[in-house]
Amino acid sequence: MQDIHLYKGAIFYFTDSPSEKNEASVYISDGALVVENGIVLETAPYNKLKHKYTNVQVVDYSGYLIMPGLIDAHVHYPQTEMIGMYGRQLLDWLSEYTFPVEIAFNSFDHALKIAHSFIRELLRNGTTSCVAYSTVHTTSVDALFQAASDCNMRIITGKTLMDQNAPESLLESVKICERESMELIEKWHHTGRNSYAIAPRFAITSSPGQLRMAARLHELFPDTYIQTHLSENENEIKNALAIHPPHSDYLDVYEKAGLITNRTLLGHCIHLSESEINRLASACAIAVHCPTSNLFLGSGLFDMQRFNLANVQTVIATDVGAGTSFSMFKTMGAAYTIAQQTGYAMPVLETFYKSTLGTAKALALDDKIGSFKPGNEADFIVVDLAATPIQQIRSDFLKQNAKWTIENQLFGLQIQGDDRNIIATYLMGKKVY
Ligand code: GUN
Ligand code: ZN
Repeated sequence: MQDIHLYKGAIFYFTDSPSEKNEASVYISDGALVVENGIVLETAPYNKLKHKYTNVQVVDYSGYLIMPGLIDAHVHYPQTEMIGMYGRQLLDWLSEYTFPVEIAFNSFDHALKIAHSFIRELLRNGTTSCVAYSTVHTTSVDALFQAASDCNMRIITGKTLMDQNAPESLLESVKICERESMELIEKWHHTGRNSYAIAPRFAITSSPGQLRMAARLHELFPDTYIQTHLSENENEIKNALAIHPPHSDYLDVYEKAGLITNRTLLGHCIHLSESEINRLASACAIAVHCPTSNLFLGSGLFDMQRFNLANVQTVIATDVGAGTSFSMFKTMGAAYTIAQQTGYAMPVLETFYKSTLGTAKALALDDKIGSFKPGNEADFIVVDLAATPIQQIRSDFLKQNAKWTIENQLFGLQIQGDDRNIIATYLMGKKVY
């Protein structure tokens, strides 16, 4: 049965990268988004569409901004409960809080409970897709895929792989994790809106044999993703190189294992040499910037401009629970603050692109999510640009001075926005928040 909805409001989305094209986005102040059976039909000025769609359901969001849902490219769902734990720097924080919390995910019931809380938190914050870490337990992967499927959310996750330097109950032999990973890929990859990410946690917790096995799995299932962590913290780098001799640098550990591909997401990438950055560019790998996490754990300052100049694909992510907020607006604000410390006043459109269409493109999912291109899945959010008194004062000031541009609207969200700005979240045309 035909099911067409017309959502009336201001419309914003990207069509291209704003760093590559001047006209890379669409903004329609009195617009409409038309959705049929969960798929985008078109966007245009409301006055143009109201005559074409006379017999459809109109949902009036006049005064609000309708934009594609945000995509969080690196987040740990088992760390939902332990957000904001005082853990000093990365390696202490992992051993004191993170590993103990992850042990409990061998219980499917516990994992499902946290997965539902996690997804609720994403949706409240306007995040409609994510690339998430689970734990080593198959139960944790089953739980997250199931919770996402329950609300038809597009999600990428997979079993975390560890076989050394973590508590015994989180370690698995290469043989067992290979078999379990294959079973999970066959069970979940491409079922509904689910995709699988092969996830060796990082060089410290994986033996060379496990890293090579992860690469072999990806060769067997080349449209899965690979995700891991790279060069987040100085002590991590020293330890990784001591554990994996003889490698010229941290990236080389993963390269030699065969893990660096155009479907590989590398969290953090803070302390990289020129050579490492250039090799990421040659491989078309994806560097994932996690700004609130880097500030929280004192990991260092990601240098966005270096990556841009070297043509490395970069995307933005929360990295909860080291990240301090589920809000991609807050995360983008932190990305701006960090970029400023490195001498780069990152343009607002770049930040939003790297949280929507840019991430979808990096994931080769731009024919499905990240924009309102006709035929895409209708994952979108409705945003109140003046949800707090100070945001109202700011927007009044900009309107009075004829400066209520889309850039100033989005920058206000980036610097002052959070969950309070999200009025509604839709997944494939269905209101889920
Ligand atoms: N490196 C390896 N595991 C983790 C993790 O869970 N969080 C962060 N921030 N870095 C990591
Ligand atoms: Zn992480």
